[in-house]
Amino acid sequence: MDSRVIEIRKHLKKKLDPMRFEHTLGVSYTCQALAMRYGYDLDKAELAGLLHDCAKRYDRPTMLEKCISRGIPVSESEERDPSLLHAKLGAWMAREKYGVDDEEILSAIACHTTGKTDMGMLDKILYVADYIEPRRYKAADLPRMRKLAFEDLDRACLAIMESILRYLGTLDCPIDPLTIAACNHMRAVAARSQEQAAAGNGEIGPEKIKEENTVESVKRNGKTRSRSAGREKGRRYKNY
Ligand SMILES: [Fe+2]
Ligand SMILES: [Fe+2]
Repeated sequence: MDSRVIEIRKHLKKKLDPMRFEHTLGVSYTCQALAMRYGYDLDKAELAGLLHDCAKRYDRPTMLEKCISRGIPVSESEERDPSLLHAKLGAWMAREKYGVDDEEILSAIACHTTGKTDMGMLDKILYVADYIEPRRYKAADLPRMRKLAFEDLDRACLAIMESILRYLGTLDCPIDPLTIAACNHMRAVAARSQEQAAAGNGEIGPEKIKEENTVESVKRNGKTRSRSAGREKGRRYKNY
């Protein structure tokens, strides 16, 4: 176990609200479970999960102010909804406050809301774990997403991204180009993996992939769903 984990966990327990802390633990354990499944470093997966929402301790104006004062780039959509900045600010805090210098961990934290093109193993593990962690219970299609996560990480990522884009498409708001680019890239990755699997043993066919791509779920938790529609309309990414 990474020697920093116990201290970081104690610190986060003091700084995050109880539900956020429970979510954090759930994501961290799920990251480890996925790391076991896909042969990734368990300690790095645990740290990424633990720290992914560390910046959620701040309110929106504070997040914006902290990003500006630290020279962290802020896009137009992030300026409109600064809660989206918790991923970037969280990566900054992981490095500067918690002493994490592993680039894979920092990358996974920084892209856990939008995804990005060419995601590495830990990027995908954290992105998926954030969606399927055991405490989440209101996101649509969770049982199937959870099963898929342990069958094919690329297809799980794609299924989550597709459902987010479908949801955002129903809202009257612009969709951030990063989210679209990440999804398009993952489509190509999943298609390649499908071809390889079909060539190898024929277990995964085109109809199965098509089915995964029609998931009508939206990546959000119960708290988000219960808030006003106006706030939901402001969302351009998954935001937890
Ligand atoms: Fe988050
Ligand atoms: Fe989260």
